[in-house]
Amino acid sequence: MRFGLRFVIWVVMMMGIQMNAQESPTLRTQAETRGLMIGAAVQSGLLANDSQYAETLSREFDLVATEYETKMCEIQRQQGVMDFRATDAIVAFAEAHDMQVRGHTLLWHQCFPPWLERGTFTRAEAINIMRDHIYTLVGRYKGRIFAWDVVNEAIGDQGGKRRTQWRELVGDDYIEQAFQFAHEADPGALLFYNDYSAEGTNRKANAVYDLVKDFVDRGIPIHGVGLQMHLRIGDVSLRRLAGKDEIIANMRRLGELGLQVHITEMDVRHDGLPTPELLAQQAEDYRQVVEACLTVEACKAIVTWGFTDRYTWIPQFFGNPDAAPLPFDKDYQPKPAYEAMINALTNFQP
Ligand code: G3I
Repeated sequence: MRFGLRFVIWVVMMMGIQMNAQESPTLRTQAETRGLMIGAAVQSGLLANDSQYAETLSREFDLVATEYETKMCEIQRQQGVMDFRATDAIVAFAEAHDMQVRGHTLLWHQCFPPWLERGTFTRAEAINIMRDHIYTLVGRYKGRIFAWDVVNEAIGDQGGKRRTQWRELVGDDYIEQAFQFAHEADPGALLFYNDYSAEGTNRKANAVYDLVKDFVDRGIPIHGVGLQMHLRIGDVSLRRLAGKDEIIANMRRLGELGLQVHITEMDVRHDGLPTPELLAQQAEDYRQVVEACLTVEACKAIVTWGFTDRYTWIPQFFGNPDAAPLPFDKDYQPKPAYEAMINALTNFQP
């Protein structure tokens, strides 16, 4: 059988592309070699409407986190009525691309449903509402969402218990009740307490440690702590919030409780324009956080809060339209931060 020259050239080109595709490392391939999950927070609308978003996500990550669509104020906008369409779409995408799903978050004071805010409920009624919400949501994805942020940001910035609506309605034990309900709904799910500015060994981090140690000591079902890792450039690399050694010490003491640590919402923001100098310093923050996680056995996952500067909460929240906090730029091109993560995942030896 004769093959034209063009066909032979085509075959050689295809083989080259195939080999090249296999050779070029991704965050996903490099993290897998280290037994680490690497993920990003996602939104179902972006998965459905931006093909480059979906393609980059499945190529570079093996975990997705629900950025907002599994929060109570979003998924139960009317008492007793839950809309699972967005979550079903995210879980279906993850399963189609062999990715894990982190559910974020069952209880959070900043996403407390208005119907619950406006109502008048007894403690017993509030507990029933919490139980029904958790049983229904966690139960629906039993065995499909492997980890949940059960309670988010229940510790105040000074280390005390935050005054939240659930605490007002139920009392201090709302947190442990939530963990108990989540465990009853899916005994196989990993249950996390999640918070920000508790990455090192400051007063707030110590309060988080005390909270989860008490749960472990009393046998409350908890499996890990989520360190959000929302940073400003230099927070780690210039020790403005917590140096790499401090983060390692915090991760280690949580690991000694038998808990896992997930870095759950990493981004590294800056003021003004993302100059080359700022992007280089940002890369250093990403590198040191990845190295900290690689140093501590208990650290099992690194999740960025989004992955492309095209879609991030930072500009609106911090008022910087030029903010570029993530590893990919607005055109899905890898930034120095991405290269720093790949390099650390490939070469760092603790
Ligand atoms: O997608 C809809 C859009 O269709 C609609 O037109 C628009 C106006 O209603 O809303 C859009 O959804 C918004 C969504 O962000 C996507 O932009 C929601 O209203 C908005 O509430 C949601 O904000 C999220 C916020 O938590 C509150 O849930 C942010 O995406 C999310 O990044 C942020 O994440 C928090 C973590 O949960 C906890 N740690 C801090 C972190 C940053 O604040």
